Amino acid sequence: MHNTKVICFANNKGGSGKSTTCSNVGYALSLHGKRVLLIDGDMQLNLSLSLFDEDQVLAFARSEKNLYEGIKKQADLAEFIVPSPFENLDLIPSSTLMSSIEYELFTKWQREYILKKCLSGIVSSRQYDYLLIDAPPTLGGWVMNILCASNEVVIPVESTPWGLFGLGNMFEFLKEVEQITPDLKLGGVVITRVDTRKSYFRQTLDVLWELDGVKVFDTYIRVDSSIEWSQDNHMPVMAYKKGCRSAREYEKLAEEIMRK
Ligand SMILES: Nc1ncnc2c1ncn2[C@@H]1O[C@H](COP(=O)(O)OP(=O)(O)OP(=O)(O)O)[C@@H](O)[C@H]1O
Ligand SMILES: [Mg+2]
Repeated sequence: MHNTKVICFANNKGGSGKSTTCSNVGYALSLHGKRVLLIDGDMQLNLSLSLFDEDQVLAFARSEKNLYEGIKKQADLAEFIVPSPFENLDLIPSSTLMSSIEYELFTKWQREYILKKCLSGIVSSRQYDYLLIDAPPTLGGWVMNILCASNEVVIPVESTPWGLFGLGNMFEFLKEVEQITPDLKLGGVVITRVDTRKSYFRQTLDVLWELDGVKVFDTYIRVDSSIEWSQDNHMPVMAYKKGCRSAREYEKLAEEIMRK
C-alpha cells in the first residue's frame, strides 16, 4: 500500500477555481482507480455541492457529521466521512458554521496542527491514495491548519491582473507557514478560467514563468460553460459531459499531479 498524499487547493483570491479544481481533479484521480477523499474546508459548501444536491448538503451541515463538528470536538475525522455517489470518491462535508472556525481554534493548544491531528488516523490507515482539501479564500489560522495538514499546495490562479496581484500575498503567507511546516511543498500554480482570445493570458504566463522556484502546470483550464452546468447538476464535469474540453483538461491536470 502507498502512503496517502495530502494536497490542498488554496489561494486567498476568491473565485480562482479552487473548489472546481479540487472536485474535478479528485474525480479524475478516482477514475484512475485511486482512492480519493475530498475535504470541504469552506463555509460556502461548494466542494460538497459539487457531489450532492442542496438539500443533502444542508442536511450534512445541520447534522453532527461535518468538518466543523469534527474540528470543534478534535475528533478522528474518519467518523465524518460520507461516501459520494461515485466509486473511489468520498467526502467530509462542510458546514456554514465554518465561519466561526477561527474562533474555535483560537483557544486551542497547538492550534495550527488541529486538522493534521484530526486527519492522522485516516492518513496512517492508508485507506486513501489522496486527500484533497478545498481551502476558503482567506489567509488565517484555519488556512494555516489546512497547509500544515498538507504535503503539497496547489494554487489555482485566474488569468487576470487582480488574480496575479493576489498571488503576492499568497506567497508571503506560504513563507510564514514554511517556518512551522518546512516539509510543505508547492505543488504548483494552475491557471484556470482561461480565455485564450485575451492577450492577458500571455502576460500571465510571462509573469508566472519569471517567478523563481514556482512550478506552473503545463495544463491550464479554459473557460467552459460545461463546468457551470456540471455544478448545477452536482456532478464532476467528466461525468456530466464526458470528453468535453474542460473534462479533457482536468484529466490532463490530474495526470500531471499523479506523475509528481
Ligand atoms: N473553467 C471554467 N469555466 C467556466 N467557469 C468556471 C471555470 N472554473 C470555475 N468556473 C466558475 O467560476 C466560479 C469560481 O470557481 P470556484 O468556485 O471553483 O472558485 P474558488 O476559488 O473555489 O472560489 P472561492 O474563493 O469563492 O472559494 C464558479 O462559479 C465556477 O462555476
Ligand atoms: Mg471555493
